[in-house]
Order: sequence, then structure tokens, then C-alpha cells
Amino acid sequence: MTGRPDLRQLLRGIDVFAGELPAFDPMTTPGDPVELFTEWLLDAVRAGVREPHAVSLATVDAVGDPTARVLILKDVTDWGFQFASDAGGAKGQDLGARPYAALTFYWAPLARQVRVRGPVECEPPEICAADFLARGIEARAESLLGRQSQPLTSLAERDAAVEESLARLEEEPDLVSPSWTVYTVRPESVEFWQGDSRRRHTRLVYRSSADGWAKHMLWP
Ligand SMILES: Cc1cc2nc3c(=O)[nH]c(=O)nc-3n(C[C@H](O)[C@H](O)[C@H](O)COP(=O)(O)O)c2cc1C
Repeated sequence: MTGRPDLRQLLRGIDVFAGELPAFDPMTTPGDPVELFTEWLLDAVRAGVREPHAVSLATVDAVGDPTARVLILKDVTDWGFQFASDAGGAKGQDLGARPYAALTFYWAPLARQVRVRGPVECEPPEICAADFLARGIEARAESLLGRQSQPLTSLAERDAAVEESLARLEEEPDLVSPSWTVYTVRPESVEFWQGDSRRRHTRLVYRSSADGWAKHMLWP
């Protein structure tokens, strides 16, 4: 016997969807999913969710193998859901090969999930540069290295490279990483999922069509 905890037991004992949760009436929802998404995001901000703008981004590579990782939502525009990253990293390469993605938000205190799917487009260089320049100096110093997802031999190597990059930025504060990219997921579908302690979860999916958005409920 090792000192390893009984994970199966532990996991089974963790309560899900406990406490008071918001009501969700799909019949009174707006016609545009971005409107509802904005309401839910603001609810998450008000509920004090830590990093309410953190979202899981799933992509596939050239042979169809999936990868998901968490990143930060930068904006939601009329075009779609925006995030930013290094085009040379793993997700950038995935999106270069297959520009299609899924985003999943989860706001635990509200038991709310939002799932977005759609094709992905790169924003023009001026938008990417503006996003890069709006970031803090530490973030810019790191991104300027353009080495995201490459193997690293030691933390000291990382720290030295970042220090060098910081010094470059002190000299030239307008430097922009050429590979920093703002991506927009143009939603084809947006699903809203409200959890319920009695497991009567409510699902509402919006699907884009030639006539605009159509919405319907799904069995949980
Ligand atoms: C809360 C959180 C926010 C993050 N935000 C970003 C982000 O905005 N852009 C980004 O490229 N990586 C972000 N990351 C790091 C990614 O999860 C990931 O490690 C990195 O982008 C490399 O992913 P890839 O190798 O699949 O390309 C964030 C991670 C966490 C946990």
C-alpha cells in the first residue's frame, strides 16, 4: 500500500452543482447568442468568478488529433469570439492546418457552461499589433521570444531570455512580435448549459443559418 489517496472515493464524494443556482428560462432568451453570452459573462464577473474570461480552446492538427488548452477571451465582436496567441506555437500550427475550433467556458459557482464552435480567422496585422501593445511589459517580453510550445532545457534559460527581451523592450517599447495573432472564432453554434442540482439541466443551442440564428433546446 502506498500513501496514495483513494481517488475514486474522493471524486465520488465531491458535490456538484451544490447551493443556489440561477434560473434559466430558454423561452425568454434573446435572438442573438452574443447578447445572452454577454449577460452570462457579466453574471460570472458579478459572481466573482476568478478569470471569468478564461476559456478552453480545442483545435485539431493536420491529421485530426485534438488538443485543448485554456486561454483568455479578448473580445466578442459582431464577427465572433476573439483570443490572441503566437501563430508559431502548437495551437497556431493547428489553426494554420485546420482553421476550425471549439471554445468552452465554465463558470463553476453558477454551474453554467457555454460552448462555441466555428471557423477561425486571423485578424489583420494592425489589430494584432494593437493587441500586443496593449499587453503588460512582462507578457510582451515573453511573447517577443516567439518560442511558444518549443522545448525548454531549463528555467534559467527561460529567465535569461525574458530578461534580454525586457531590456530590448525598454530600449524599443513599440516592438511588436510578428507572430502575435488575434484569432476570431466565427460562431456556427453557441450552446448555453445551465446546471441544476436535481440534474434537470437546461440546454439551449443557437445555430447559424442563412436566415440568421435558430435556437432549440437539447436533452441534457
Ligand atoms: C488562465 C490561463 C490563461 C492563458 N491565456 C493565454 C492566452 O491568452 N494566450 C496564450 O497563447 N496562452 C495562454 N495561456 C497558456 C495556454 O494554456 C497554453 O499553455 C499556451 O498557449 C500554449 O498552448 P499550445 O502549445 O497548445 O499552443 C493561458 C493559460 C491559462 C491557464
